[in-house]
Amino acid sequence: ETLELSAEELEIGGHQHFMHKEMHEQPETVRRMLTGRLDDRFATARLDGLQLEPRELRAFRRVKILGCGSAYYVGQMGASMIEDLARIPADSEAASEFRYRNPIIEPDTLYVAVSQSGETADTLFAVREIQRKGGRVVGLVNVVGSSIARECDGGVYLHAGPEVAVASTKALTHMAVGFAMLAVALGRVRDLSFADGQRIINGLKQIPDQVAAVLEQEDTIAEVAKKVAAAPSLFFIGRVRGFPVAREGAQKFKEISYRHAEAYQTSELKHGPLALISEELPTVAIVPRDDLLERNIGAAHEIAARRGPLLVVTHDGVDLGELDAARIVVPKNEDELDAILLTIPLQLLAYHAALSLGHDIDRPRNLAKSVTVE
Ligand code: G6P
Repeated sequence: ETLELSAEELEIGGHQHFMHKEMHEQPETVRRMLTGRLDDRFATARLDGLQLEPRELRAFRRVKILGCGSAYYVGQMGASMIEDLARIPADSEAASEFRYRNPIIEPDTLYVAVSQSGETADTLFAVREIQRKGGRVVGLVNVVGSSIARECDGGVYLHAGPEVAVASTKALTHMAVGFAMLAVALGRVRDLSFADGQRIINGLKQIPDQVAAVLEQEDTIAEVAKKVAAAPSLFFIGRVRGFPVAREGAQKFKEISYRHAEAYQTSELKHGPLALISEELPTVAIVPRDDLLERNIGAAHEIAARRGPLLVVTHDGVDLGELDAARIVVPKNEDELDAILLTIPLQLLAYHAALSLGHDIDRPRNLAKSVTVE
């Protein structure tokens, strides 16, 4: 399928690639996305497009998120945010699997379809399957008027603007921010206090400047990326909230660098993959400053002890001790929102790895921006 692109979409500005342009647009586009949606008076997010009354929002007992590729991984970040803030069970599943497995559709589950293009066939068919069986499905979609946006029972537009590069960057950041807003909205009609709602709203307001601060480290990240790209294979590890970050990081890396990249739960390392650690296999470890910090640092030391090269993505104020590791430090936000910012350096890492390998960044082999066929 070829996409029709307008003159504006083809405008690359001073950037070498669309992916580069799109990463650097994030501070501005996220700021725009948040405009008018954060409600300080009630410490919540206003998502009128959902077309759900507070009474209806309160009635959902589960949230099921569906998407493909990056949208599926960001859905996992979203599920954590919803469980953390609204305390209702939430999970994300690949829409491509869901649609073929005769899923159980429940009337008190809120289904959320996530898609940049709004045209991914697997996600669209998942939406139709849910609706056929009486489920309520809302969209988190970027392209206005796309099939998924039209067929859903309501939704939240991502307002990321056109995304041309196959590897999604700004759209997925917007998805994560969209989930944070949805989580606050669901939380504030349940047990989330005014103060906690306010804490998250204030955290969201910091995101644009904090994304800009990560982007400023591009040169440093590019240096690390060149080294990492020399290895034939690498690990991305993260625990709990950090695991979807690792999965998305590995996804982006394989999409454009064509290097084998595998994401693993940090907690599962000792149950198998530790056998693979050697000086040949670099690991990118997600080590946020949260209640699991000590455990994540411990795992990093175990890798270093087995001579595995390490790149640690962490926050300021984290003391890694004597650990022999390259590090990228991102600004700290609220624990529940950290995944949004931890993902940004992994976009730059994949981009610069692919660049150093001389690949076609915007149009990687074998992939399409939007898979509209079966
Ligand atoms: C394709 C792209 C992926 C993207 C996925 C979902 O497979 O190559 O990069 O994440 O589709 O696209 P969507 O438009 O639904 O977000």
